[in-house]
Amino acid sequence: MRVFVTGATGFIGSAVVKDLIAAGHQVLGLCRSNDKAAALAATGAEVYRGSIEDEESLKKGAAQADGVIHLAFNHDFSKFVVNCEDDRRVIKALGSVLAGSGRPLIVTSGTPIANTVPGQPAKEDNPTVGSDVHPRAASEEAASAAADGVNVSVVRLPQVHDPVRQGLITPVIEMYRAKGACVYVGDGLNRWPSAYFLDVARLYRLAVEKAEPNAKYHAVAEEGIPMRDIAEAIGRRLKLPVRSIAPEEVQAWFGWLAMFAGRDMSASSAQTRKKLGWEPVGPGLIADLEQLPIPATSARRMS
Ligand SMILES: NC(=O)c1ccc[n+]([C@@H]2O[C@H](COP(=O)([O-])OP(=O)(O)OC[C@H]3O[C@@H](n4cnc5c(N)ncnc54)[C@H](OP(=O)(O)O)[C@@H]3O)[C@@H](O)[C@H]2O)c1
Repeated sequence: MRVFVTGATGFIGSAVVKDLIAAGHQVLGLCRSNDKAAALAATGAEVYRGSIEDEESLKKGAAQADGVIHLAFNHDFSKFVVNCEDDRRVIKALGSVLAGSGRPLIVTSGTPIANTVPGQPAKEDNPTVGSDVHPRAASEEAASAAADGVNVSVVRLPQVHDPVRQGLITPVIEMYRAKGACVYVGDGLNRWPSAYFLDVARLYRLAVEKAEPNAKYHAVAEEGIPMRDIAEAIGRRLKLPVRSIAPEEVQAWFGWLAMFAGRDMSASSAQTRKKLGWEPVGPGLIADLEQLPIPATSARRMS
């Protein structure tokens, strides 16, 4: 297949590009800057200049492909709602080109969108929350709106990790470093799901190859790791104290991350594994947190 990948220069997208090429596909990779074009080209992808703000560039890219994997997203969380609404617009634009062709469009969402059964891990076929509850549901609403004429499916992501990046845990770690303590809320038993980035990349490839209309996939390797275990692993590695905070302290402590910090977000991937024959094999989240790079200042302090 010739696959148009948006976000081809990002953490997950660059792994998706490599996985697709290794499996014999061709990649047209969206790139918005000169800086990253050479690295993208070096993977064997064809660099496609454009941006998510420029709908015409997106449509022309999608028109040249047998399928689209959409991973680009603006992660400026100070305007998260606006960025999620932009994603709705981008998905609509990509879908408009693929409508009626059967060519697959794989869009990206998060597992919390399907955390709708209290006390249970999110399942692929759970009802989902709306964008009035979680702004990122806009991506799924856009996929549903397109599903009449477009072969669209959704990949919901947990905390995707390697030793350097771990989804929302990365900004949590920055807060821990800045405040000099690793905290969790209450008993810290609320769980966050995770997956290793190369396993996630393979799942995107399997999804675009399968091209099943309206499928929902969970790229989840570990269903849920208690926030307390996450905080303790980071505390051990960064030599920071670990403690509980009360629910009333969450907003002041976590700021824009407060909506996630104490939340149980566990998620299952049983349906996905069966459908795609996907088996994650990468290291677990805690193993990667144990390899976190230690900033020069902490290294000096410890020596
Ligand atoms: N990482 C996780 O744990 C996680 C969890 C849940 C959901 N997700 C979702 O998964 C997707 C990929 O995440 P990621 O971790 O790979 O993010 P990332 O490393 O921040 O990559 C984002 C990608 O989007 C591109 N992008 C941003 N603004 C753009 C614009 N205006 N025009 C064109 N491209 C633009 C970036 O290009 P540049 O390289 O030029 O900046 C980059 O390629 C996103 O939808 C994200 O929200 C990720």
